[in-house]
Amino acid sequence: MSNIVIIGAQWGDEGKGKIVDMLAPDVDAVVRFQGGHNAGHTVSVGGRTYKLKLIPSGILHKNKICLVGNGVVLDPREFCAEMDALLAEGLDLGPERLKISRKCHLVLPYHQALDRTREAARGGDKIGTTGRGIGPCYEDKAARAGIRACDLEDFDLLGRKIRDALKEKNALLAGLYGQKALDPETLIEELKPVAARLAPYLADVSEELSRIEAGGGRIMFEGAQGVHLDIDHGTYPYVTSSNTVAGNAAAGAGIAPSRLHRVIGVAKAYTTRVGSGAFPTELTGETGQYIQKKGTEFGTVTGRKRRCGWLDAVVLRESARLCGVNDFALTKLDVLSGLPEVKICTEYAYRGRRIPYPPQAEKGLAEVEPVYESLPGWQEDLSSARVFSDLPEAARNFVARLEALTGVPVGMISVGANREQTVMRCLNLHSAPPAV
Ligand code: GDP
Ligand code: IMO
Ligand code: MG
Repeated sequence: MSNIVIIGAQWGDEGKGKIVDMLAPDVDAVVRFQGGHNAGHTVSVGGRTYKLKLIPSGILHKNKICLVGNGVVLDPREFCAEMDALLAEGLDLGPERLKISRKCHLVLPYHQALDRTREAARGGDKIGTTGRGIGPCYEDKAARAGIRACDLEDFDLLGRKIRDALKEKNALLAGLYGQKALDPETLIEELKPVAARLAPYLADVSEELSRIEAGGGRIMFEGAQGVHLDIDHGTYPYVTSSNTVAGNAAAGAGIAPSRLHRVIGVAKAYTTRVGSGAFPTELTGETGQYIQKKGTEFGTVTGRKRRCGWLDAVVLRESARLCGVNDFALTKLDVLSGLPEVKICTEYAYRGRRIPYPPQAEKGLAEVEPVYESLPGWQEDLSSARVFSDLPEAARNFVARLEALTGVPVGMISVGANREQTVMRCLNLHSAPPAV
C-alpha cells in the first residue's frame, strides 16, 4: 500500500489541515513528523471548526490512528489542553488510537520564556516567531540537552534534568535578559499530573508504523509549516526550527525513506506569510487587503494578520523540486473570485538576470523583483463547484497555467473550508503517482 506525505508548499497555512482531513478516509493512520504547537491546522466539518496544533488532522475520523512522531516538539500541557477541547466535542481519544512517540522532545515553559525574550531583544530584527518555544526546544535537542517524553516515565531523571536545564536557562533569562528566574521545583510539581495523564499515550511510534504497514495499512504523514520555512531550505533566518521538507517525514516519524511513496504539496491560490522575512509577491495595497479580508487571513495560533500576495510559481517550483511533489492540492481558489485580473509570478529579476529559482544569498530574496504573468479574473462564486467543469473558464485557465509553470498536476482544488467543498480532479490515491 502506498503512503502519502502532505506538505505545505509555501510559508505555511496553505490549508494542510483541511486536505489531511479530506484524504484521511483513504488511509489507516496519520502521523505528524515535525513542528509543534506553532502549527495551527483548521478543519471545518458539519458546521464545526477544529483548530489542531499537535494532534494530527485525521482525528475527526473515528477509526483512524493518530500518531505524534519523534520529530515533533511536544508541549505536554498544550497537548492535554488540546485533548480537553476535543473531548468536549465528544471525540474518542483513547490510547489505542492516539499515540505519542517517547522520543519527542518536550517544550517547557523556559523554552517559551527564552523564545519571547529573545524576540523582544531582537527589536526590529525579530523573526516574528509564534512565541511557543519551538526554536529553543529544538536547540536543546541538537545540544543533546533536551528532555523527552520518555523522561515523563522516570520522574527522578526528569527532576534532575529540569534542575540542570534551569541552571543554564535562568542564567540567561535573569542574568542576560533581566527576566524572572523560573523555579525548577514548581515546574516539576506541575508536570506530575501531566505525566500521569500522558503515560498511557506514550508509544514506540516507529514500531507502530511498521506494524500498521505489516497489516497492509496505509499511512499519511502530515507536515506542519511550509517548505519555505524549512530550517535548511527556507528563507533563513526567517524560518522555523525544523525541516519541513517531505524527506523529513522519514526521520521525523521513524520510517525508511523508501516507504514514502507519494508527496502532495498543499498550495494556496495566492501566497501568505506570517512573521518577518522577504516576500517577493507581497501586496501591500488594496488587492492585498481584499485577499486578506476575503480569505480571513489571520494566524490560527497567534491571531496575527497574515501578509498576502500573488501566487508565486518560483516558490512552488522550488518546493516541488525539493520534495518531489507528485500533485498539488490547490486551496482557497474561491478567495480570488471578484478580482478583475489575477497574477502569477513566473520568475524573478535578480541582479540583471532572470532566475527561475530563489537566490541562495541570505538577503537575495529581498532583492528580487517578481516577473508577473497577468490572467483574466473571474467573478463567479466557486464555493459550490464539485467537478472541474463547474469552474469558470478563467479559473480553469489559472489552474492550467500553474501546472504549466511548475510541471506538477493539480490533483485537487479546494473551494471552501468545508470537507465537501472540494473538486477532485486527477488525484487517484489508489493508482501510481504521475511522473514529476
Ligand atoms: P494549515 O495550517 O495549512 O492547516 O492552514 P490553516 O488552517 O492555518 O489556514 C487555512 C485556513 O483556510 C483555515 O481557516 C481553513 O479553514 C481555510 N480554508 C482551507 N481551505 C479553504 C478553501 O479552499 N477556501 C476557503 N475560503 N477557506 C479555506
Ligand atoms: P502551520 O502548520 C505559518 C512561522 C512564524 C515565524 C516563523 C518562526 O499552521 O502552517 P516559530 O514559532 O516556528 O519559531 O516561528 O515560522 N510559522 C508559521 N507560519 N504557519 C505555521 O504553521 C507556522 N509555524 C511557524 O510565523 O515567521
Ligand atoms: Mg496554520
